Amino acid sequence: MQHILSAAQFDRERLEKFLAAASRMAECVKCDGARIADGKVLATFFYEPSTRTRLSFETAMLRLGGHVISVPDKSVSSVKKGESVEDTVRVLSGFADVIAMRSDTTGFLERAAAVSTVPIINAGDGGDGEHPTQSLLDLFTISRYFSLETPLRVTFVGDMKYGRTVHSLAPLLRNFPEVQLRFVSPKELALPKKYQADGDEHLTEISENILKNTDVLYVTRIQEERFADRAQYEKLKNKFHFTAEKIKIMPKNSILLHPLPRVGEIDPAVDALPQATYFEQAHNGVPVRMTLIAQLLDLL
Ligand code: CP
Repeated sequence: MQHILSAAQFDRERLEKFLAAASRMAECVKCDGARIADGKVLATFFYEPSTRTRLSFETAMLRLGGHVISVPDKSVSSVKKGESVEDTVRVLSGFADVIAMRSDTTGFLERAAAVSTVPIINAGDGGDGEHPTQSLLDLFTISRYFSLETPLRVTFVGDMKYGRTVHSLAPLLRNFPEVQLRFVSPKELALPKKYQADGDEHLTEISENILKNTDVLYVTRIQEERFADRAQYEKLKNKFHFTAEKIKIMPKNSILLHPLPRVGEIDPAVDALPQATYFEQAHNGVPVRMTLIAQLLDLL
């Protein structure tokens, strides 16, 4: 049995095999042949709000022919009565075959995994943790447009401090030496040291030159819910705003990703441009999570 807690669990060989399996799954998300999880149960237990992650996990299990039980919000669970994450998971792992869990406290999911008798999947871990399944679907999306074996310029922009999708995608991309990583954020929201690596570039402003020299622009929102100081959020919230005019500066074959939700970083007029790939990216969550669930349950 294996838990999925961190992007560090994926080396290049495992990623290449995973991407190939996810490509095959994407070919037949709705085929009868995908219904390989008959009788299996996925539990989703989310301590924090979610639209894409929870619903794409649930869609993935349903498309695999399995079943879903769900706690979409801790306030309607016995967490509200003071139940520990350990006891919650001890009970859930007697109900379900696999558990996708989002925590509100970094490190919580390691505690869950320590007592679980079924695989725990990290669906977002606290304020400065990871979101490895988002990074798998991000990498899958990138791989649909670009080879990871030839030079690729990836620019992350936004909240690098609390952007847990960045914390997971950066290490996945570092498995491919031809990928060059650049991180742009206000200095208050810089990428934490533990997620940095030699060769990274760190900037505080986005320029025309950067946009012209970017193949993958990965924008994240400034995460209001993480700020203890409201005034600081107000100061930083509009730091980056991408209009259609700005995105048109990018190479014609470049792509613009965002884990979503967006809250003002990308103007809706950008949606009509060929670079806008963020909705396709969200949709890729289904075949990618189908693949992951099927692998964890030894169904592939
Ligand atoms: N990308 C992502 O994690 O979105 P949700 O918070 O809606 O799940």
